[in-house]
Amino acid sequence: MVNFGGYSPTVPFTPVCSNIIKNHCRLPINIYRRNLTKSRSVSSYTQAEQLHYKAPMVARNYLPPWFSVAPMMDWTDNHYRTLARLISKHAWLYTEMLAAETIVYQKDNLDRFLEYSPEQHPIVLQIGGNNLENLAKATELANPYFYDEMNFNCGCPSPKVAGHGCFGVRLMLDPKFVGEAMSVIAANTNVPVSVKCRIGVDDHDSYNELCDFIYKVSSLSPTKHFIIHSRKALLNGISPADNRTIPPLKYEYFYGLLRDFPDLRFTINGGITDINEVNAARSAGAHGVMVGRAAYHNPWHTLGNVDTAIYGAPSCGLTRRQIIEKYQVYGDSVLGKYGSKPHMRDIVKPLLHFFYSEPGNGLWKRKADAAFQHCTTLKSFFEETLVAIPDSVMDSSIPRPPSGREDLFSNMESLLPPSYEASEDVVLCA
Ligand SMILES: Cc1cc2nc3c(=O)[nH]c(=O)nc-3n(C[C@H](O)[C@H](O)[C@H](O)COP(=O)(O)O)c2cc1C
Repeated sequence: MVNFGGYSPTVPFTPVCSNIIKNHCRLPINIYRRNLTKSRSVSSYTQAEQLHYKAPMVARNYLPPWFSVAPMMDWTDNHYRTLARLISKHAWLYTEMLAAETIVYQKDNLDRFLEYSPEQHPIVLQIGGNNLENLAKATELANPYFYDEMNFNCGCPSPKVAGHGCFGVRLMLDPKFVGEAMSVIAANTNVPVSVKCRIGVDDHDSYNELCDFIYKVSSLSPTKHFIIHSRKALLNGISPADNRTIPPLKYEYFYGLLRDFPDLRFTINGGITDINEVNAARSAGAHGVMVGRAAYHNPWHTLGNVDTAIYGAPSCGLTRRQIIEKYQVYGDSVLGKYGSKPHMRDIVKPLLHFFYSEPGNGLWKRKADAAFQHCTTLKSFFEETLVAIPDSVMDSSIPRPPSGREDLFSNMESLLPPSYEASEDVVLCA
């Protein structure tokens, strides 16, 4: 099995990047390489800055991103990530997508969008956009928050995003632009960069077209890590939710990429629902596995087994009661931090799935609905609602994962598409 091995997120900017940029990009990327003295090593930040940004100023060496929680708008916010980190110490956490324009226009208000607690490392900021200047500025503005990787969204089919010029998954149709975008992002940060994309768009869905995209982006920019949501996107007006279920999963494309681009790293995403499947994907060669909906809808069982079953490390060792106690301290400290926001409902939202399929779950949600009307602290909210959950649920530790579809990827070898060879056109273009 190929691993990320020796993954060190604090990679300094190297001249290799600028050579690639100079040699390959048609735009004068240096224009977009903003004041790089700002992309300093972590240790060179002053004490005042360290205090200001509240980030740990130590060189960080995390375990590799063998498992990550997907970026999910309105779901993987600070509150969810706080809960997720209490359950798993090693899962990599992605933020929701943040538009480069939002970062740029809110530059005097950045904590609200970019701040997170140091415990959330390793954490990846996902940005979206289609304007090189704004992507450069947004990356630079995000630097002082010390995200561990910058990810660029090329997979979102939402009409709000995809219909907004060339943004989200539509960018897969313009790999040259994505190469340029990744170059400006990389030129303005000293952490690794990655792309999250689909396997195709509408009828641009052949394996060869996917390979052309990967080939061009990786040749034109320092991008070495791709996260592949293994279904194409349909831009015919179906909802984003349908776009996560209707187009069929084609894992064989993902495994084809592993074979055809041995110098790149690939994380598989889409339809993976439990830890056994994560391990099966890794055993079949995936460098990393990203899980979205399952990590949100059933955080205790999905994330609770990551540290032991994926990383071979001890589990967090906490019961649900202990996690709730810690979460309560967090919740009460941020409630109403920005005027009326966050609201009690925002903070409790990720917990609504914490007792998934357990006895008392339905009653706890009904009590929660009532408690939202009058509780003013998380402490009082929990006192009023958690009586619905039996002690046996509150005090049990994380169960071992049930056996699942361990054979999900077992026939990949026989399904692989023919090997890719870049055509002369593609090579010349890159
Ligand atoms: C509510 C929701 C919001 C999402 N928002 C984003 C996003 O901001 N950026 C992104 O790249 N993908 C987004 N996705 C897609 C997920 O990252 C992931 O690719 C998709 O859900 C497939 O993985 P899964 O089958 O494990 O859920 C979103 C998915 C959901 C369910």
